[in-house]
Amino acid sequence: MNICVVGMGYVGLVTSACFSTKYNVMGIDIKKEIVDNLRKGGVHIYEPKLKEMIENSIQKGKLWFDTNLENAVLNSDIVFICVNTPSDSLGQYDLTYVLAVSEQIGKILSNKRGTTIVVCKSTLPPNGHKEVINIIKNNNPLDNWVYVSNPETLSEGTAIKDFMEPDRIILGTENQEVIDIMKKLYHSICSQTVYCVGKPIDAELAKLFSNTTLALRVGMVNEFSRIADKFSESDIGHILEMVCFDKRIGSSFMKPGPGYGGSCFPKDVEGLVHSANGVFSPILENLNYSNQVHQLAITDKIHSIIPKGVITVWGLTFKAGTDDIRDSPSITIMRQLVQFGYTIQLHDPMFKQLPDDLKSKVQVYKSKYDSLIDSQAVILLTDWQEYKDVDFQAVKESLKGNVIFDFRNMWYPLFVTSQGLNYYSLGKNYPFLAENLNRIEQI
Ligand SMILES: NC(=O)c1ccc[n+]([C@@H]2O[C@H](COP(=O)([O-])OP(=O)(O)OC[C@H]3O[C@@H](n4cnc5c(N)ncnc54)[C@H](O)[C@@H]3O)[C@@H](O)[C@H]2O)c1
Repeated sequence: MNICVVGMGYVGLVTSACFSTKYNVMGIDIKKEIVDNLRKGGVHIYEPKLKEMIENSIQKGKLWFDTNLENAVLNSDIVFICVNTPSDSLGQYDLTYVLAVSEQIGKILSNKRGTTIVVCKSTLPPNGHKEVINIIKNNNPLDNWVYVSNPETLSEGTAIKDFMEPDRIILGTENQEVIDIMKKLYHSICSQTVYCVGKPIDAELAKLFSNTTLALRVGMVNEFSRIADKFSESDIGHILEMVCFDKRIGSSFMKPGPGYGGSCFPKDVEGLVHSANGVFSPILENLNYSNQVHQLAITDKIHSIIPKGVITVWGLTFKAGTDDIRDSPSITIMRQLVQFGYTIQLHDPMFKQLPDDLKSKVQVYKSKYDSLIDSQAVILLTDWQEYKDVDFQAVKESLKGNVIFDFRNMWYPLFVTSQGLNYYSLGKNYPFLAENLNRIEQI
């Protein structure tokens, strides 16, 4: 079986790498520099194990990259659309890229024999499939293709595992023959899983329901961590333990942090609200607002403890395990800190670049300890393993001040405090100050 994957980003590259363990895959991107780099063995995004898998498939002659969509579609049985569907300036889904690819696919299919399955993995708004189908039909009078909605549910940082061991695979099509082919295709590379089959509209809404539910959980835990902060000696860690053993709730996405980010949650929440078109949905309408309020609260907390000066931020990416900085909370928080007039020193183990507006305002360091020199405080925003294994004695020696803001609730407060550092986090209302160490131990 030959497979064509269009869009060599986080989803498309993972899809290509995973399917090429078994099938011949042609990976297509419109950007020549991306294709040239991939052909040379370079991978322009970071995802654990991805580079090795791509190298392996190239070596085995199972994976190729090109900018020429025509050749790839003509020679493929299945075409996966994995291009970006970002927000436009109003927060609605911008389908420019997905429709441009669909138009091209339609034109190419009008010259092709045999049946092609066109699978959309890109996240679409409700009924987005109708626009994709219409544009393909408008460019191809032949009845030689079938559409499947197959929204991708992988998470960056664990994308390969998520793809190969999915909780479920969503298939939106009513063509039984194609359902069987898709099941066979996934079954041959993925571990045993559940196939959830339905109409394309239900597949689209299921994907959006999943992402907005996860965003809601993050928002809920973060709001709760701020409520816990109002009550002395309360501890969100203990509270969550008491809550998460409830099987109805469970523990995934139940950890406070600096808010959700990345290319999916903020976009999907806002995109869905626009698509709901007049349906009053106060929870969804306020979800991104809650996320922003939380990030403002974090900045206010920093400002109330260190009113000015030099501060260090650890973590730029929106989570660990990825180089993706799209809608990263770290960027929002740094923008607010810049407005307060701080001088910011930044470290991230996967640093690539800053957004243009922060380039002249943030000093970037290669070593996490060097980033502390002259600084009043360190603010932890991304949960990288490298920060878990930190040497607090070295932190104390490098910092000019003595303040630790742990906005991932990653470190053990008493250990930090015992090094003579003052510790602040989310939802742990204890006096974790070095001068109070004896008092804390008595609690
Ligand atoms: N990133 C994630 O974690 C994730 C998870 C699930 C679903 N999704 C969804 O999957 C889709 C892709 O997301 P992504 O993060 O991989 O995007 P991305 O921005 O990382 O990659 C998209 C790629 O498509 C290419 N492209 C755009 N137009 C093209 C065209 N006409 N022909 C060929 N290539 C073209 C771009 O150059 C880019 O390399 C989006 O709809 C997103 O919402 C993303």
